[in-house]
Amino acid sequence: MKNFIDISDLSSKELRSIIEEAKSRKVKRKNLNKSAPDEDKPFEGKSMAMIFEKPSTRTRMSFDIAIKQLGGSSIILNPDGIHYGKGDETLKDTAKVLTEYVDIVMLRTSSHKNLEEFGKYLEIPIINGLSDKSHPCQVMSDIMTFEEIKGSINGKIVSWLGDGNNNMSNSFIEAAGKFGFQLKIACPKQYMPNKKILSWAKKNKVNLLVTRKPEEAVQDSDCVMTDKWISMNDKVNKKIKKRNLKDYQVNKKLMQKAKSDAIFMHCLPVGRGEEVTDEVIDGKQSVVWRQALNRVHAQKSIINWCLLD
Ligand code: CP
Ligand code: NVA
Repeated sequence: MKNFIDISDLSSKELRSIIEEAKSRKVKRKNLNKSAPDEDKPFEGKSMAMIFEKPSTRTRMSFDIAIKQLGGSSIILNPDGIHYGKGDETLKDTAKVLTEYVDIVMLRTSSHKNLEEFGKYLEIPIINGLSDKSHPCQVMSDIMTFEEIKGSINGKIVSWLGDGNNNMSNSFIEAAGKFGFQLKIACPKQYMPNKKILSWAKKNKVNLLVTRKPEEAVQDSDCVMTDKWISMNDKVNKKIKKRNLKDYQVNKKLMQKAKSDAIFMHCLPVGRGEEVTDEVIDGKQSVVWRQALNRVHAQKSIINWCLLD
């Protein structure tokens, strides 16, 4: 039994095995209906509880479909509708109860500490469905998507534009180290990756470039990527942050400075006309809908990995 909280918790070998299983399960079920179970139904008779402290479209839907494809069932819990560490029941007691009912828990939280605390008391695995610190499930889906289109990500160049200090950029820095690609981040000084992740990157010899120049970040790039300028947990002055990031927009002019066959990625939801133009996100180089679909496939093998002894 294992938790899936951060990319950095797993070895490169474990992460690779998750990606390969996801690819192979996806190919095997290509003629099946969207929610039909895989032939081996590895999650048959089992269930997952999902708790969302924050809104979600993709994570909610893709985990539900993933569970169906594995042959199991899922239940979505609204923290406002359950006893969830709000004074009437401790997080510890809620965790103990869930342990009795289900086989695995997925949590989307505003506080990474909740994941760690919940994980400590659960006697079943917990998956991080996004926290203020990281978004590992999305990044696994992005690696899978990249590789379906461009082959092994090892040795390739991925560029990140905009907010260099959010959950997605943190998980991408960890992924660059584990999967062996170069990550080039372009961001203003005040939105640089935080000290903790930079020191992890240094210690783990991540091929990471942090620059203030968008052109430098996209040069020779195989994949240009960005994210919402204002994340769900961001308690900032939105107007000021948007103004500070405006030169980091991914537009046609910037895409033309990457490799001619570079792909464009975005985890969604998107701030159209802010971090990316309609022309790019709706254009031929964009693979954002495939990223969303692959959440299902990547998460199926993450669930299987968690339940392995
Ligand atoms: N990318 C992602 O996690 O989307 P949701 O917020 O819709 O789940
Ligand atoms: N950084 C974004 C990712 C959304 C999937 C956020 O946390 O809102």
